[in-house]
Order: sequence, then structure tokens, then C-alpha cells
Amino acid sequence: MDWGIKNRLSRIIKPATGRTVMLAVDHGYFLGPTHRLEHVGRTVGPLLDYADALMLTRGILRSSIDPETAVPIVLRVSGGSSIIGDDLSNETIMTSMEDAVRLNVAAVALSIFVGSDYEKQTLESLALLVDMGQEYGIPVLAVTAVGKELGKRDARFLSLSCRIAAEFGASFVKTYYCDEFEKVVESCPVPVVIAGGPKLETELDAFKMANDAIQKGAAGVDMGRNIWQNDNPVGMIKGIRAVVHERKQPEEALEIFNQSK
Ligand code: R5P
Repeated sequence: MDWGIKNRLSRIIKPATGRTVMLAVDHGYFLGPTHRLEHVGRTVGPLLDYADALMLTRGILRSSIDPETAVPIVLRVSGGSSIIGDDLSNETIMTSMEDAVRLNVAAVALSIFVGSDYEKQTLESLALLVDMGQEYGIPVLAVTAVGKELGKRDARFLSLSCRIAAEFGASFVKTYYCDEFEKVVESCPVPVVIAGGPKLETELDAFKMANDAIQKGAAGVDMGRNIWQNDNPVGMIKGIRAVVHERKQPEEALEIFNQSK
């Protein structure tokens, strides 16, 4: 791996544990003003000290995040469809690598839609982004999107998507947690992090999901709604950190959550 890519990646996936707690706030790129993300700066401010990286778009970065922040930025560069449009999978690269360099990002992120009508288009975008990333020393995070079909979140589909992302040169991959998640990780030669998905019923459910993912080989989480849609978001991210970096049990994470109320 090139020095620049390795160095940037080590700012996200912490060498001390080999894991990461990324905070995802990029939802607006296709969902618009998501609940609790109406004012991203206000939501994210108290959480920044606990995030190993912040995932968002350039518009929100420039408008809502203090440039003096030390938190590494993972810049979402793909998009082009919305939740009310015809097909969520019709995405392409919407931000240039030059702008990513200007923004001093630690990585760029792009969704691939394997199995969709736009499979080839999104894989071509990934290939192009990896080429540009190699040129500038910037790692690429491939997000294995499922569009509106959440039912596709099984080990067979996610293994296929993660492996294809790695074959195309992604430095790391973000996917969903699923049954037999170890199969997804085992067949993917680059680090895998999990998205949280829609807010789960209880805090313990979220801590358990993070714990199971780590146990089965994940390199961490890139979590959004289960953190900032909670009434105690700082408690949530502290609990998640405890699971990911300190390998605390979900019940211990819940105690940390309750103590931070
Ligand atoms: C997916 O690509 C989205 O843009 C989010 O970054 C991702 O789903 C993680 O957020 P959440 O934990 O809310 O699912």
C-alpha cells in the first residue's frame, strides 16, 4: 500500500486497536433533512471528541463543520439520486478528487449498487475513484448499498458486494451486519466496517450488533442514526467506543450509556 494511503487510513482505523468508530452524517445526500440531522453542526458538535472519523458530504463539511477540527474526514463523493426519485441506485461521482484534496480528507466514500440496473455504472465509478485515489494517496471506502431493498442484507449478497468492492481496489468497505457475518469478513481481503442502519428498538440492541460485528471480524462501525437519533447521543457513542476499542460487553456499554445521561 502506498505510504499516503496507509498514513491516511491509519488516522481512521486506529493502529492501537486496529478498529474505528466512524460517525456517519452523510444521510442528507439522498434523504434530505433527516430527523435529528436538520442542523448537522449542532448534532455533531458534542460527538466529535468521540469519533475516530466523520463521514459527510462537502456541502455539509464546508457549511457546518469547524475547519479547525482534528477529526479525520471521510468525504462522500457519490450521489445523484434521491429517496423520491425513480431509482436510488443511479449514482455517480459528484465531487472531484481535487476538491477532496483541498478539503484535506482522510478518505473518500462511494456507494456501489451490485445487482441493480446501475451496477456497471457504480462499479466504473469505483474503479475511477480508486485510480484517482492512487494518484493522490487517498483511500477509498466502498459502501455496499442495497437501495430500497433492505431484504437484500444477507451474507450471500453482502459477501458478493464486499468482495467485488475489494477486487476493484477499495481500501476498506462499509456494509451491513447480517447473520453469518463472519463469511462476509473472511472473504473480503480489506477491512470491513458496518453501518448501523435504522434506529434499533433499544440501546442494548445497538451495542449487541456492534459487539457481534467486532467478534466476527469487523474493523469497526460507521454508525449514524443509532447514535444521533438517540436522546442521549453522547452516551451512545461512548458505549459504542467501549465495545469497539475496549471490547466491553454490550451490558457494560449500556452502563456507560446510562452513566452519561
Ligand atoms: C449509507 O451510505 C448512509 O449514507 C450512511 O452513511 C450509513 O447508512 C450509516 O448510517 P446509519 O448507521 O444511520 O445506517
